[in-house]
Amino acid sequence: MATQLITKLPAILDPTKIPQHVAAIMDGNGRWAKKQGLPRIAGHQQGAQTVKSLLRCCKDWGIANFTVFAFSTENWGRPAVEVNFLMQLFTGLLASELVQMHAEGVRIRFLGDRSQVPIFLQTMMDKAIITTASNQAVTFNIAINYGSRSEIVNACRSIAQKVQANQLEPYQIDESLFTQYLDTCGLPDPDLLIRTSGEQRLSNFLLWQLAYTELYITNTYWPDFSNDEFMQAIAVYQQRDRRFGKV
Ligand code: FPP
Repeated sequence: MATQLITKLPAILDPTKIPQHVAAIMDGNGRWAKKQGLPRIAGHQQGAQTVKSLLRCCKDWGIANFTVFAFSTENWGRPAVEVNFLMQLFTGLLASELVQMHAEGVRIRFLGDRSQVPIFLQTMMDKAIITTASNQAVTFNIAINYGSRSEIVNACRSIAQKVQANQLEPYQIDESLFTQYLDTCGLPDPDLLIRTSGEQRLSNFLLWQLAYTELYITNTYWPDFSNDEFMQAIAVYQQRDRRFGKV
């Protein structure tokens, strides 16, 4: 990893300030497609290419964790044809890219409630998790049927059950313990959140984990978000003065 960092890191980036975790709200696929006169699903297809490209950058630049919001708990409200397409797209991509990602040392994890996603996708998710479990180059977290409030409520419920079963005392509940009950257990909080297409909101994404995250919001639609703009986003992040509430 260290050698790759030196050889592949763009010259404008400071190797001592590489974010350990970048998260992305991939917005604007539909508008990108409309602009090209294409159906919305073409935007998602093109957006998937952006994901692949940025994941490779993460690996090459030493960004250890990359998390993408692929499907929210609210996205079930989209037309059935689009929802079905997305489920097939996730499954197809995992199937077609798994060998390559595994070879490149990508560890795949999922955030969100998998119980509601189609069985064919759950099967592929399990295969991806098991195949890549011991990889170490970069961890790729895909949020599918994810909603942050629901994640937090589930964590509270699990903790309450432990207290009720006398396995935990209320005084033992602190921030560090709480994070162990979130879907992101074991991951550092994101250093940088990228949101494309100009929307300036969190949309129920990683509300706990983003407490001190730097935000990079761009008008670019996700399918147009290039490696160059990713590099710019990291460069902007490296200029930020992160005080974490201190002076
Ligand atoms: C938001 O754009 C995008 C989505 C809800 C789907 C994102 C999925 C991908 C990019 C495929 C990635 C694949 C993997 C395996 C991670 P939108 O449809 O809300 O765009 P709009 O606001 O312009 O309508």
